[in-house]
Amino acid sequence: MSARRRLGARWRRRRPLRTRLAVATASAVAAVALIVCTAAFFVVRYELYHQLDLSLTQSATRVTQQSRGEAPGVLAGECRFLSAPACAQVVPADPAGDADRYLLPVSRPAREVAAGTRAPYYTNITLFGHPARMLTTTFGDGRALQVALLADSVEKGVRQATWLLTVVGAAGVLLAAGLGSWVSRSGLAPVARLTATAERIAATRDARHRIELPPGAPASPSHRDDEVTRLAITFNTMLDELEQSVTAQRRLVSDASHELRTPLTALRTNAELLARADRLTDAQRDRAAGALTRQLREVTGLVNDLIELARDEEPQPLVEEVRLAELVDHAVAAARTHWAGTVFTVHTDDAARTHTLPGVPARLSRLLTNLLDNAAKFSPPGAPVEITLTTTDLSVRDHGPGISPEDLPYVFDRFYRADAARALPGSGLGLAMARQIARAHQADLTAENTPPTGATLRLTLPPADAGATRSLV
Ligand SMILES: Nc1ncnc2c1ncn2[C@@H]1O[C@H](COP(=O)(O)OP(=O)(O)OP(=O)(O)O)[C@@H](O)[C@H]1O
Ligand SMILES: [Mg+2]
Repeated sequence: MSARRRLGARWRRRRPLRTRLAVATASAVAAVALIVCTAAFFVVRYELYHQLDLSLTQSATRVTQQSRGEAPGVLAGECRFLSAPACAQVVPADPAGDADRYLLPVSRPAREVAAGTRAPYYTNITLFGHPARMLTTTFGDGRALQVALLADSVEKGVRQATWLLTVVGAAGVLLAAGLGSWVSRSGLAPVARLTATAERIAATRDARHRIELPPGAPASPSHRDDEVTRLAITFNTMLDELEQSVTAQRRLVSDASHELRTPLTALRTNAELLARADRLTDAQRDRAAGALTRQLREVTGLVNDLIELARDEEPQPLVEEVRLAELVDHAVAAARTHWAGTVFTVHTDDAARTHTLPGVPARLSRLLTNLLDNAAKFSPPGAPVEITLTTTDLSVRDHGPGISPEDLPYVFDRFYRADAARALPGSGLGLAMARQIARAHQADLTAENTPPTGATLRLTLPPADAGATRSLV
């Protein structure tokens, strides 16, 4: 990189965007103003000289008509005063035929015009100490005619135009500077607000801040908004998600610490009891050891479930095309061995046999297991559990007591357990986890009671073109 480019890059890095935009806008407007003024100057000058040249041509024609055949020498020498007729002289091609005296300067090109080897031309000369314009044209018979007029008024006009255009140009540059600063300030105001909000969030680590949007701005970015508004809306959406995620994580941690306290206290009590085993009878010791093992198993299960629920930030495992029918068969087979007293029946529709959806098999299996465990756990022994799979949904229906209407809105909450379920093992995380897995697969999990008795958990599958699973899978 050349030194100049390096310098430019460093300047761009160091200067705030506002200054750079102001300088760029001002330079562009100033350049346009200067170009327009310069062009105007040339046009004015050309026009003024053009008028003078026309007068010279007319004078030359008149003199040619009136003084045809005149010998070389001065024809008219009146042009020392403004608006006087033009000075005129005849010049031969050969200096040998020269007159005694000439009024206007005779140069080699003038001889060439006289000889007919050069086209007529105009020149600026100084006459009697004044600027003048001279036309040298052919006069016939190896002679040239030179006519001149004072150009004071034209020179004055050009000077005035120069002065006026310089003032206009300078005003244009000043206006450009003001305009550049206004454009950058007003144009970058939303960006400044965005930066301030981002800096405030970084400093306070509080994701509740939002960027102020212009009144009437929509909640989601649309193509009719300008880029900065769209960026601000997107940034706010991102902050919404961040806040939700942070709140969800905090709630999970506080729920978890609250829920872990009771089993851990029980564990400690039993551990302390066993530490004084010499004072216990054999029966008491066996009971305490059994309770300790059971509680340890429960706490382990609880901790594992919590880890699964907090999987959001895990690296995304491979998503593959999953044949749900096979997963259902597999999960039901496992449930049959675990819940020997329950009769599981599976109805899979023909189309569903070959139907696939994008997903993570292990996670979907976990979802199925949680539903089947609940159905078996909350049903009386020997009651049937029916699993129905179509290409659009999967339902698990049991014939237990069902879910009471007061509990129905909460069964998917973490750690929520109906009073009736407290006697049974579990921590209230199964359905929360199942819904999280469903949502990650763009599916929907709902619970309802099915008359005459029992609950049905329904997983509504995503349509075939619903895209890949979300990152938390
Ligand atoms: N099939 C069902 N029949 C009746 N009640 C149910 C059924 N499924 C869930 N519930 C109710 O919803 C609550 C939450 O279920 P969830 O699966 O989340 O927890 P759990 O089964 O109690 O514990 P875990 O699944 O963590 O072992 C249960 O405690 C129970 O009250
Ligand atoms: Mg459960």
